[in-house]
Amino acid sequence: MVVKNTNQLEEATNSTYDREAEVKAFDDSKAGVNGLVESGVSKIPRMFHTGKLDITKIAGDSKLSVPIVDLKDIHANPALRVEVIDKIRSACHEWGFFQVINHGIHVTVLDEMINGIRSFHEQDVDVRKEFYTRDLKKKVTYYSNGTLYSGQAANWRDTFAFGVAPDPVKPNELPPICRDIVIEYSQKISDLGFTIFELLSEALGLDPSYLKELNCAEGHFIMGHYYPPCPEPELTMGTAKHSDFNFMTLLLQDQLGGLQILHDDKWVNVPPVHGALVVNIGDLLQLITNDRFVSVNHRVLSQNTGPRISVASFFVNSPDPDKGGSKIYGPIKELLSEENRPIYKDVTIKEYLEHYFAKGLDGNSALEPFKL
Ligand code: OGA
Ligand code: NI
Repeated sequence: MVVKNTNQLEEATNSTYDREAEVKAFDDSKAGVNGLVESGVSKIPRMFHTGKLDITKIAGDSKLSVPIVDLKDIHANPALRVEVIDKIRSACHEWGFFQVINHGIHVTVLDEMINGIRSFHEQDVDVRKEFYTRDLKKKVTYYSNGTLYSGQAANWRDTFAFGVAPDPVKPNELPPICRDIVIEYSQKISDLGFTIFELLSEALGLDPSYLKELNCAEGHFIMGHYYPPCPEPELTMGTAKHSDFNFMTLLLQDQLGGLQILHDDKWVNVPPVHGALVVNIGDLLQLITNDRFVSVNHRVLSQNTGPRISVASFFVNSPDPDKGGSKIYGPIKELLSEENRPIYKDVTIKEYLEHYFAKGLDGNSALEPFKL
């Protein structure tokens, strides 16, 4: 018998590797990445391989950080409100991200929500399997990798998602293990979303209700992500580099870290701040603000500790033509002038979403084809 050297072995595996079969078997297990971890894998399947992480772009300057905005007393103190709005304006322009503290949602609600999402993902596989689906018409879904069949490397992450508005999930459709906290959190984060849209409107010099009247907060869904500990974190990502497609995201992360944003071509950590929420601008808000606010690339590293849990609340109206999906969005007229000519074409939510998901998380901005 001829003993193959490592290179030949590698070649043999290359020529026999059937990615499609591997992806399908993984999806058919309905157990997610956590199912792999539960079965004790010590090597990650090839469908997750991204190639070596480029560490040349990691920011060395630890002082460089996403702004933290304190919302305490902004309703009672007009002078303070002006200051806060100035800070938000520059954060949305320079960073596309900021963290809010004293936002009015009690830290116990945040902690309980993280625990609720954790308990969903950690319940017996036969129970969570019942929710596993790629049918986007369902109001409650559990799946691994929204773009699993795109051909790009899969991410080391599972997701439990549900709709909040305009079609709220009914309590009895929610898994009992996290039902109560999901209902409470959804309500509180919706209210905070409205408040943040008011502050963003004011930061643009518009009437506080402007973005709400454009229906930016009309649709709302939540994704509870679970990043299991990864045995080979140098080979895969928790979430690949992407920008969010929506108007705005409110993100709750646990204390583990791993979220990074691409700022001045360097990856900067978004450090966990207990009790804070991360606010980030999505592509559609960049488009309607004509680049005054920017939708910035971000990613989550995989780690061999964990699990890491995060809860992302996405605000964007539904692509359903009956629910505002055919509404046309373009640069806001009040923000345009001789010096500020429109950069983007008009687009419907449906058109934008179709393009975004067809493209997949390839790291390029989905806004490019919509430039004038
Ligand atoms: C997202 C996202 C970051 C995180 O869901 O779009 O960027 O920390 N999540 O999970
Ligand atoms: Ni994101």
